Amino acid sequence: MPNRVVLGGQWGDEGKAKIVDALAPEADIVARFQGGANAGHTVIVEGDRYAFHLIPSGILHPKMICILGNGMVIDPAALLAEKKSLEKKGVETEGRVLVSRAAHLVLPTHKAIESVWESASSRAVGTTLRGIGPSYRDKAGRSGLRMEVFDLPGPELGERLTVKLAEDNHTIESLGGKPVEVGREVESLVRARAEIRPLLSDTPHVLAEAVSQGRALLLEGAQGALLDIDHGTYPYLTSSNCTIGGALAGTGIGPDALGEIVGVFKAYCTRVGAGPFPTELEGEAGDRLRDRGREFGTTTGRPRRCGWFDAVAGRFARRVNGLTAAALTKLDVLDGLETIRVGVRYRLGDHETDLFPPGSERLQRAEVVYEEFKGWEGRVGDARSWDALPSAARVYVLALEELVGIRFRWVSTGPERDQLIERESD
Ligand code: IMP
Repeated sequence: MPNRVVLGGQWGDEGKAKIVDALAPEADIVARFQGGANAGHTVIVEGDRYAFHLIPSGILHPKMICILGNGMVIDPAALLAEKKSLEKKGVETEGRVLVSRAAHLVLPTHKAIESVWESASSRAVGTTLRGIGPSYRDKAGRSGLRMEVFDLPGPELGERLTVKLAEDNHTIESLGGKPVEVGREVESLVRARAEIRPLLSDTPHVLAEAVSQGRALLLEGAQGALLDIDHGTYPYLTSSNCTIGGALAGTGIGPDALGEIVGVFKAYCTRVGAGPFPTELEGEAGDRLRDRGREFGTTTGRPRRCGWFDAVAGRFARRVNGLTAAALTKLDVLDGLETIRVGVRYRLGDHETDLFPPGSERLQRAEVVYEEFKGWEGRVGDARSWDALPSAARVYVLALEELVGIRFRWVSTGPERDQLIERESD
């Protein structure tokens, strides 16, 4: 198998986990490379529910090595809780979870700072409140702590944490927030050291070695291209690169090691939190997609905003990521609609464009030019092959391919593992 990257093509929640799950049996190592516990998905295997935020879901495949890459920001308590809950369900994690020493810590003060930022409504982004932005801010400002601090002896670790948390408390107080209890937080982090330390690893070397031995890597993106800190709808986005550049920087592997770059797109669009969403459907039509698609956040439970597929944004995601393959998910959610619309261009003032404008300002004002497609009767979820799909569903998928400029090799038609059609190559 080629080394693969799986990336979100929209605003996150595209169903990447299902595609990762389908590709994982062909891989030896699964690695995350950006984000932290802001990501979330649930996997159900034989009736057991597993919730993932930090550890790649590939851990459910018994021989898989799971890496939390250097580009991630990690809340140690959340990591240990997730690991423990897997072990409780009988998943062997010993020696299979490797955490990069260069990944940054998410501290309790990061969450406190974020909660003050977010409660000032003028700058609310609608984040997941997992401390992601403040942790990456420390990383970029070179004032953060990396996971390698857990290599320090306990007393020294305690000192480093005390200084950092006390410093952050000044910031929190200056913003009018409630400072954290330094002594208690330091004690619990120092206590976590015994469990964290054995997980630490120089993951770029591990990955380089794996590449040279011909072992197959699967890099698992979190969030999506339109939430990318550089290419997304700034400032309404996350604080990491969720596009292909993030996969390289966040693992330390070179572009020459990558074989396939897989973009995952939902058959319509959703977004959580604030920010422009040109094809958003309000009222009943949006509610219908939300209910049928069970569009509520896995991490926060918030209802997701829903709308039509945006091919302008899709083309942009394809280009920025240099996608070589793609998957289309949740086609079944569109079952029974009379007509389906797709945003194909934007009208900005007196001109039309098929280019996705950077940032949020122009996008807020964009009017969408739509193309309409006929819906289908029957359930796409019953089809087990491309040819068995209703013909209008095939027409819709082929039109999206044409508009985005990428072939959908996988089409997901429902939540079950076997509701995934892999199309033969043409
Ligand atoms: P943060 O990543 O918690 O800072 O949140 C920033 C923005 O990204 C907010 O709009 C979140 O709703 C969104 N976001 C973060 N993680 C995810 C995700 O996994 N899926 C969808 N949206 C996300």
